[in-house]
This record gives sequence, structure tokens and C-alpha cells, in this order.
Amino acid sequence: MEAFLIHGGKPLRGKVTVSGAKNSVLPLMAAALLTPEPCVLEGVPRLRDVSTMVSLLKALGAQVTWKGERITIQAAGLSSMEAPYELVKTMRASILVLGPMVGRFCKAKISLPGGCAIGVRPIDLHLKALERLGTRVTLEEGYVVATCNMLHGNTIYFDKVTVTGTENILMASSLAKGETILENCAKEPEVQELAQVLRCMGASIEGEGTDTMHIRGVKGLKGYHHRVMPDRIEAATLLIAGAITGGDVRVEGVIPHHLEAVTQKLKEAGIKLNIEDRAIEVKGSCRPKAVDITTLPYPGFPTDVQAQFMALMSIAHGTSVITEMIFENRFLHAAELQRMGAQIKVEGNKAVVEGIETLKGAPVMATDLRASASLVLAGLAAKGESRISRIYHLDRGYERLDRKLIALGAKIERIKEDWP
Ligand code: EPZ
Repeated sequence: MEAFLIHGGKPLRGKVTVSGAKNSVLPLMAAALLTPEPCVLEGVPRLRDVSTMVSLLKALGAQVTWKGERITIQAAGLSSMEAPYELVKTMRASILVLGPMVGRFCKAKISLPGGCAIGVRPIDLHLKALERLGTRVTLEEGYVVATCNMLHGNTIYFDKVTVTGTENILMASSLAKGETILENCAKEPEVQELAQVLRCMGASIEGEGTDTMHIRGVKGLKGYHHRVMPDRIEAATLLIAGAITGGDVRVEGVIPHHLEAVTQKLKEAGIKLNIEDRAIEVKGSCRPKAVDITTLPYPGFPTDVQAQFMALMSIAHGTSVITEMIFENRFLHAAELQRMGAQIKVEGNKAVVEGIETLKGAPVMATDLRASASLVLAGLAAKGESRISRIYHLDRGYERLDRKLIALGAKIERIKEDWP
């Protein structure tokens, strides 16, 4: 196991470029299963989750090469229709192979992902939607077995906005017979990018970025060559790193429109931002003012930035209320922030944060991807040394965040830990 040793209290200064978006790369890699032609993805970050998806695609029989920031995938045919539990349990996003496999091969056997630290995270909406397209779905010994003769278009209303649910059905319905209408679908930039790439592959899709999408099934799809969008969640994390340390950080390669809800809240908190076409700069911020946030589907405040924002509010002037509307257990970082002196009271899906002047370094433990980012940010602001264990959570979704922060002046050391 690895941990971070962080000596905090130093304002970060300098510029940093964001990596490609994890939550865009994963569905786009799965989309390569929809075609026998080669698919090339550029700007791919070196993340554990991407490695897991590479292993999964190879286990299914696709040819995959990953050189630097370029991944090439060709699924001329598949040698297996089974996504094994050993892989799926390490990454829930493995479920994204379900839609393309049913869409192109009319069968798939995917291990149920199981829950994770932030919630039960069922896939009932994925399965209900596939059934509406003519798929027979059975659960056998922890696996979803999905088969169909031929998918046919239908109208599907998602009871809840689901990002990967929308992505799975977008991919499956692209090869269905007839028209599919998706109501109450996700509008995240990553979903929009998938729709745009599917269209380049020959799919007939309209309405991405709105509540309703129309897909007219086609007989077959071509390959793609695409550069993935920048990671808006990493960009938000880096901006908060500048704000929480009272530094001067310029985040480059971003699409500011993708993180408007976050920059809006940072400005409300009195953080000075300079927003350009492809960069956002946080400037010499004073102590932030407490502001309330409620996480919502895009374009609302992203749940994937809630933990990082809580770290910022823990040193704010005043009291803020953080309401988590997406996942039922996404406050695990609160207890760890409290070990650093944060005054946080969790009541159901609300966390009341009473800002204090200074956090104190302490040994803490990462529990999930974004919680680990929150603890890194708190460690950067805290006086003294923090040790953050189980940092493998961070490496799942951030491309060497420690190196990026060190380049901004942070004192972070990656160490080996012999206890689990
Ligand atoms: C995606 O997860 C992201 N992952 C998550 O990012 C992100 O937090 C989440 O969307 C919300 O924005 C990827 O894109 C790979 P959902 P996803 O389906 O699709 C419930 C990160 O940190 N639900 O939009 O799994 C679900 O329990 C990760 O990068 C059902 O009830 O999330 C949740 O409460 C974490 N039934 C809500 O809907 C279903 O069938 C939204 O989940 C599906 C979802």
C-alpha cells in the first residue's frame, strides 16, 4: 500500500494542465465494442481505471494497445461474452460494456458490480431500459445475463438521471431496429461527448445535452479517431487546491463551461477567478466565505466535487450546509477531515460545516476516489504533517496528482506503507 506524507500550509503557485477526462475515456473505450473497425483514443490519462478497462476489453477478446496517451482498440469479434467478477468488482464502470455487447452481439454476461463505499449503486435502470429494447435479462449467481434476438427501438423514461445508464442505452440503441427516445437522460459533458463520437461512427443521435435524446438505429458503425475532452473534475480539484492554500494557480487545457456550477460557487465564496477561453486562474485568495451547495445532475453542482468543496468550506469564514442528493453515503471524508480539526456535523444527506481558521495535520485514511482528493486538499492547507493512507483510491481517477501539486510547490512525498 502507498500513502502520501504532506507538509501543509504553503500557498501553491504556478500553472498546471489537466489530463483527459476519466469519465469520458471509459465509455468511449467501451464504445469500441460496437464496431469491427479500429478505434483510436488520444489524450488518455494513465489511470488505474483505464488499465482495468484495457484488461476487461482484452478479456473479451478485443485487440488493445496503449502507448503513451494513445489507446487503439479493435473488436473484430469477441472470444468471450463474459465480464468477470474479478475485474468488475474493482471498477463499477465495467458495466459500460453491457450496452455495446447487447447492441452488437445480442448477448452479454456481466458480473453485478456490487456496491461501493459511496452507496449501493444499483443498475436496475440500465436493465429496465435494456428490457424495453427487447433484451431478456436474468440474474445468475451474481451475473447479469442479457440476450436478445434483435434490439428494437422504444421510448424509455429514466426514473432517475443515470450517467452510465444513459451511456449504456445510447450505445445499445445505436444498433437497434427503429427509433429510441430517451427521456430524463443525463446531460453530463461526458455523455454529450459519447453521443458526438457515436455520431462520427455513423450513429443517428439528436438531443444530447437536453433531457430527451432521439436515436435512430443503424445497421453497423465505423471506427473513430478522437481526442478525449479535459477532465472537469480534476480541473475543479486543482482550482480548489489553489483556493484552499491561498495561492495563485492557473489551470490550463480546461473547458470553463463544463465546470460553471463550481466556478460560480467559488466566486460566491469570495475566491477571485480569472476565466479565459481554455484556462481558469485562481488568484491569491483570501480566506473563503462559507457558501451552501447541493449536488445535482449536470449542469448542477457535481457530486464528484462535493468532497473537495467540503475541505474548502472547513476553513471558510462562517457555516455552510452541504447537501448530497446523488449518493446515499458520500460523506465518508467528513470523519477524516474531523481528525484534522474540521467542525462537521453530518445529518442524513446534509453536512453542516462550521469553518475554522486552520486545520492541523493528522494521519487519515482515504475511503474512495474523491474523498482521497478531499484529504489531499485539506493536508495542503493544514499546518504540520498529514499522512494519507490507501492512496490507491486517488490513483484510480487522477493522473499523478502528487506530481502536479509538487510542481505547484506542494510538499508531498509518496511512501510505502506495510500495514493494509
Ligand atoms: C457516474 O457514475 C460517474 N462514473 C460517477 O463518477 C459520478 O459520481 C456519477 O455518474 C454521478 O455523476 C462514471 O461516469 C464512470 P449514476 P454512475 O448512474 O453512472 C442511482 C467518480 O468519482 N442509480 O449517474 O454509476 C445511483 O445509485 C465517479 O469519477 C440507480 O438507482 O452514477 C445514484 O444514486 C464516482 N439505479 C444515482 O442514480 C441505476 O440503475 C446516480 O447514479 C443507476 C443509478
